[in-house]
Amino acid sequence: MDKPSIFLPIITDSEDKSSIIKNRIRKNYRHIRKWAKRSYTNCFRIYDRDIKEYPLAIDFYDGRFLVHFFSYDRDIDEASGQFHDEIDQVLCSLFGTSRDHIYWRTRVRRRKKEQYEKIDMQKDFFTVFEYGAKFKVNLKDYLDSGLFLDHRETRKLVSSIAKGKRVLNLFAYTCSFSIHAALAGASFTKSVDLSNTYLAWGRDNFILNSLPEENNEIIRADCMKFLDDEIDSGALFDIIIIDPPTISRSKKMDQMFDIQIDYPYLITKSLKLLSSKGVIFFSTNSRKFKLDESLFNSCSIEEITDKTIPLDFHNKKIHRCWKITL
Ligand SMILES: C[S@@+](CC[C@H](N)C(=O)[O-])C[C@H]1O[C@@H](n2cnc3c(N)ncnc32)[C@H](O)[C@@H]1O
Repeated sequence: MDKPSIFLPIITDSEDKSSIIKNRIRKNYRHIRKWAKRSYTNCFRIYDRDIKEYPLAIDFYDGRFLVHFFSYDRDIDEASGQFHDEIDQVLCSLFGTSRDHIYWRTRVRRRKKEQYEKIDMQKDFFTVFEYGAKFKVNLKDYLDSGLFLDHRETRKLVSSIAKGKRVLNLFAYTCSFSIHAALAGASFTKSVDLSNTYLAWGRDNFILNSLPEENNEIIRADCMKFLDDEIDSGALFDIIIIDPPTISRSKKMDQMFDIQIDYPYLITKSLKLLSSKGVIFFSTNSRKFKLDESLFNSCSIEEITDKTIPLDFHNKKIHRCWKITL
């Protein structure tokens, strides 16, 4: 892979006594910038709920900013105008950016039926780098950007063992695990997701990285049904990634998916697709999730969350991750 030249603005070290949030973002960014430069990465978190009065997470995507506001009150689904202005001004003055490049999302604990994904239709895509791999992202139109930054190190872990391997990526979203595996020399990847939109986005990511279609299959299917069909076909994989949503419902599915209810089925079926020296990476963002190891006596399960939380994520509960082998 050619090493890309990435631009990461330099910001000065001069403290601003009047703003603790500005000082914290400056400190975090200066710290992560050194790592990012070395790692050919220009998308990362620059603030992660470090100060109680500022319940935000701020992600840097090549000079644009995604600000997640965590509302602890279901009835408050937007930051106040004054708070919004304060943060915008901090980012504009630190990075010399314009407000057009700052995108806000409110993360409210939504009632079950209130989930949404698409929020606009401006098709405002641009490319970012993660460990030299290219990804198409969009901070305007969807709730999520197209690249879940909290799994950067998990993707690196997968790519570190992917050479010559057959990789199955379940709940693939925009195929980011598959892209890293393919770039690292995986002999074959198969990405499965229910959403045509995200799979088309994933296909664009393969093209963006000049990866051939024939070795990198993309399948639109309900993973719960796909697993049985794949077992029947006799296929085996050396690496299987299972990173499902906590809860999902769609007209395309027979039943609602709930990680806490469905994980034994997902893991048991995936084990049947695993080659003898293969490894499953299983992950969830669910805070309440409990994994009952006694359900899987035939395999070994190691929690590797410590190794998969990136250094810019200060909230260490962002996800949990397990490595499962036969
Ligand atoms: C949390 S995202 C997965 C993140 C992804 N693993 C990554 O690395 O970026 C959830 C994805 O699961 C997909 N999905 C939800 N239910 C599904 C199902 N039953 N079968 C297949 N895909 C599903 C959604 O379309 C979405 O792309």
